[in-house]
Amino acid sequence: MVQLVANVVPVYLNGEFVSLEEARVPVLDRGFLFGDGIYELMPVYGGRLFRFDAHLKRLARSLAEVLIPNPYSDARWRQILTELVQRAGGGDRLIYWQVTRGVAPRDHAFPIGIEPTVFAMANPLPAPLPEQLERGVRAVTLKDIRWARCDIKAISLLGNVLLRQQAIEAGAVEAILLRDGYVTEGAASNVFAVLDDVIVTPSKGPALLPGVTRDLLLELIADQGLSYQEAAISERTLREAQEIWMTSSAKEILPVTVLDGEIIGDGKPGARWTRVHHSFQDYKARLRAGEVG
Ligand SMILES: Cc1ncc(COP(=O)(O)O)c(C=O)c1O
Repeated sequence: MVQLVANVVPVYLNGEFVSLEEARVPVLDRGFLFGDGIYELMPVYGGRLFRFDAHLKRLARSLAEVLIPNPYSDARWRQILTELVQRAGGGDRLIYWQVTRGVAPRDHAFPIGIEPTVFAMANPLPAPLPEQLERGVRAVTLKDIRWARCDIKAISLLGNVLLRQQAIEAGAVEAILLRDGYVTEGAASNVFAVLDDVIVTPSKGPALLPGVTRDLLLELIADQGLSYQEAAISERTLREAQEIWMTSSAKEILPVTVLDGEIIGDGKPGARWTRVHHSFQDYKARLRAGEVG
């Protein structure tokens, strides 16, 4: 049995479980110096990992794209993260875990023969705020100033951080990003819009992160028999959308009811959002019951 110690936040660092206060990484870690690393963020409901295989697949792909060796087998990752959740006390959590290239004297070129640094923590997962689900949230559009490989879940998030902050200062919950007149995604979310009664989300590619919530939502939408399409969304069609939603591990599916100060649809969370939100909640209940992964 895993021992729980009151008021100690357990984290995983390089093969060991330690308290957050004890966890230390050398200043020459390339994650610290260059943002040279990859991360994942995965919800846990009732102690069960949400879509673990999809998160692991995305982690492996991101690592391969930046030529960092994957330090663990799938089974080892599962064992570490499951034990971390148990040590943290189970329940609803958000696991943040990252792999950096490792520690070496500062030089842009890859060092030879170093071990990646692995860190994971399982923070409490706050439920979406009831008023956000009842009334929807505000978003603003901003120019997507990030790099050309947003499909890689890199820890270097300066562009995303600046964009999110700009959105918050404008009184919004999230920024919806536009590149060459088309929606890419949010600063930390994927975007869906209902256009002429069809649910549309941008196709995967280098301009956006392939969201695990996004992919599950497409499955749930297909199961419901609703019309959907993976296609480009122009700025003009976004502004005329019947509904807009943002999806992420932390936000689930949030309805956007005000965009750049203009009301979307009738200013309330839409009928399709209500259906899809309901089936997402149902999926979570099935996960808690151990019926799905
Ligand atoms: C830029 C970006 N896009 C999309 C997402 C949504 O991905 P997921 O649903 O896997 O959380 C995130 C999540 O943090 C993100 O940072």
